[in-house]
Amino acid sequence: MIVAGARPNFMKVAPILRALGRGDAPWRPVLVHTGQHYDAHMSDVFFRDLGIREPDVHLGVGSGRHGEQTARILTEFEALLCATEPRPAGVVVVGDVNSTVACALAAVKLGIPVAHVEAGLRSFDRAMPEEINRVVTDHIADLLLVSEPAGEDNLAREGIAAERVHYVGNVMIDSLVAELSRARALDMPAKLGIAPGGYVAVTLHRPSNVDHGDRLAALIDLILEVAASAPVVFPIHPRTRQALSTFGLTDRLSGARGVIACEPMGYREILGVMAEAALVITDSGGVQEETTYLGVPCLTLRPNTERPVTTTHGTNVVTGDDLSRARDLALTTLAGKRPMTSRTIRGWDGHAAGRIADHLIATWA
Ligand code: UD1
Repeated sequence: MIVAGARPNFMKVAPILRALGRGDAPWRPVLVHTGQHYDAHMSDVFFRDLGIREPDVHLGVGSGRHGEQTARILTEFEALLCATEPRPAGVVVVGDVNSTVACALAAVKLGIPVAHVEAGLRSFDRAMPEEINRVVTDHIADLLLVSEPAGEDNLAREGIAAERVHYVGNVMIDSLVAELSRARALDMPAKLGIAPGGYVAVTLHRPSNVDHGDRLAALIDLILEVAASAPVVFPIHPRTRQALSTFGLTDRLSGARGVIACEPMGYREILGVMAEAALVITDSGGVQEETTYLGVPCLTLRPNTERPVTTTHGTNVVTGDDLSRARDLALTTLAGKRPMTSRTIRGWDGHAAGRIADHLIATWA
């Protein structure tokens, strides 16, 4: 059984689902959508773009406070596992969202083995909801499938037995490799009326950035300053849209010169936008990895990253809380004064899902 819950899960689930269905696999993969994300923009379009089939089961849990949402997923997923005959050979969870930890917990308590894909990432920042999800999931899962070198070090330091840990590489890059030419073919810059290589893409949705009015207002200032140098494409996450409205900031963006504010984009659209950007400014985890693979400069507006390989081998700079530093880095990048290249990262090669399937078959079959 493989679990998808929120937007960043879908690009990881797509290649794994395909690999689990291959000829030598002794099972039929069952896809469960928890419904943590449910908007057409946040879910359906990703299923279409990534060619993911209809989920076998949809739990329809929806939004809520963390305890509430996690508990609802836990209850619903446990009931599903109990009603499923025969019991699944194992449960695969990906990433670090509430669906990840809730489904892992339901399964292990029933004695069903759990594999965690993207294990071992740590921001060492317990104020970040995902960090709690990562730590808990890794400590209860049976099989820990690691995407970047820091993951192995972190799990070893936390005393997790090496035989449970396998380096498989980054499965999200599998989706990127599979879809990049179709994403480029959309010609997103032309659709948006901007020049390839001459614009900035922005994504922001972390609670630490968008849930506080002062911080969000300062981020809008930053976007407007950057937009004076190059057009800014800003697809707005539902959490951010809500926060803009709560803090009375919506009008500062709509109609601002040089800012293309829009709905969240589909997978191919955002990939097409990022691939041709001069710079990406983000607080997303996945975008740090995608820009590294694409060789596009990225500024991460956070005090830390759980994906340090993107800063040592990639194009990512973690700017910290200081937005004046972010502004300076953005402007020097746009002036062409910070040329960037990425080095090859082990297992970021488009074939991680095959390695994941190999481990699952070897362990569970
Ligand atoms: C979740 C993940 C985060 C991931 C992000 C990507 C957790 C703890 N967080 O954060 O790691 O980076 O997804 O998007 O699991 N909403 C909608 N439509 C939707 C989904 C959400 O309108 O389809 C609104 C709801 O008002 C909801 C809010 O967005 O309350 C936040 O959604 P939620 O799933 O709680 O967290 P995200 O901020 O999306």
